[in-house]
Amino acid sequence: MNSMLRENSLSEKVIVVTGGGTGLGRSMSEMFSLLGASVVITSRKKEVLEKTAAEISSLTKNKVLPVVCDVRSYDEVEKMLQRTISEFGKVTSLLNNAAGNFVMPTERLSAKAFDTVVDIVLKGTYNCSLAFGKHWIENKQAANMLNIITTYAFTGSGFVAPSAAAKGGVLALTRSLAAEWAKYNIRTNAIAPGPFPTEGAWSRLFPEPLQKIIDPLQRIPFKRVGTHEELANLASYLLSDFSSYINGEVVVIDGGEWLYNAGQFNSFEKIPNEAWDIWEQMRKK
Ligand code: HXC
Ligand code: NAP
Repeated sequence: MNSMLRENSLSEKVIVVTGGGTGLGRSMSEMFSLLGASVVITSRKKEVLEKTAAEISSLTKNKVLPVVCDVRSYDEVEKMLQRTISEFGKVTSLLNNAAGNFVMPTERLSAKAFDTVVDIVLKGTYNCSLAFGKHWIENKQAANMLNIITTYAFTGSGFVAPSAAAKGGVLALTRSLAAEWAKYNIRTNAIAPGPFPTEGAWSRLFPEPLQKIIDPLQRIPFKRVGTHEELANLASYLLSDFSSYINGEVVVIDGGEWLYNAGQFNSFEKIPNEAWDIWEQMRKK
């Protein structure tokens, strides 16, 4: 990946990335590490974390610490925070990226299935935000939080109702803490990505049989998905001091997808030029 920021732009940062062992969390962790940050990657799977940490470290020559932590447990989050501080002496930034999701008609879900997704996404985010926030406030330390949401946090979406409800909650939490904790020099922002292929998301949201019926590319005016480099550069900027006056913002990075599908007349692009010619001639007549 190519970085838009200069080398060592994040060298003063100690960044915790939840769900940092795979997918977008892994790519963002790699970019932060390339830019000189000390990075802590956390999730439930020890082997995955250890492998990712070793691979990123060998590429960037910067320390990446793997720490097992289920974000649904406040105790585990507190332990992960303490482990980070004992290793690096401080923590400056939190990236709430861990998530769980699957597609299913809502009426087919059990209450436990609903809990599972909401607990990872919303409870996981507020557990981490609360533990880290308390630490920063107590230590009078300036800090930065970044939450990964989705564009259906704005619109809602059928077939992923638990995720939509939880991401909507994370959006409200982002704006609430941005307003409340600015006085402590803690910034809180969010990124709402459109489709960025990862094994975790694609296997659960666009499994092969569904791909035959639904092509996510058709929803995107650029007719392409996002690249991990594009997202990782945005995240690096929002966690860097270059964005120090940005607080409470949600940056959409989706190639225009959600607006394209919201604008009532955008589908008129399917009308060919010849048809517009005929329409103009009729109008002039
Ligand atoms: C319906 C399901 C289900 C499915 C699980 N459940 N998968 N229900 N459809 N596909 C139900 C189970 O039957 C069970 O309920 C309950 O959910 C808990 O299931 P477990 O397998 O025990 O949960 P757990 O082991 O904690 O795993 C959590 C998980 C799993 C969310 C189900 O998929 C996971 O670990 N995901 C992590 C990674 C992930 O999801 N990444 C994608 C993020 S993508 P019962 O009642 O039967 O016991 C994303 C992108 C958004 O967010 C936007 C894209 C454009
Ligand atoms: P992913 O690779 O499946 O990432 C999800 C991560 O969350 C995994 O590393 C997983 O690791 C971790 N996780 C799940 N449950 C956890 C728990 N209880 N405690 C701690 N960690 C947990 O999927 P992704 O596509 O990269 O998604 C990353 C983020 O981007 C998510 O917030 C997702 O909603 C968002 N997003 C993705 C897309 C996309 O197109 N890919 C679009 C919009 C938003 P373990 O299983 O080891 O715990």
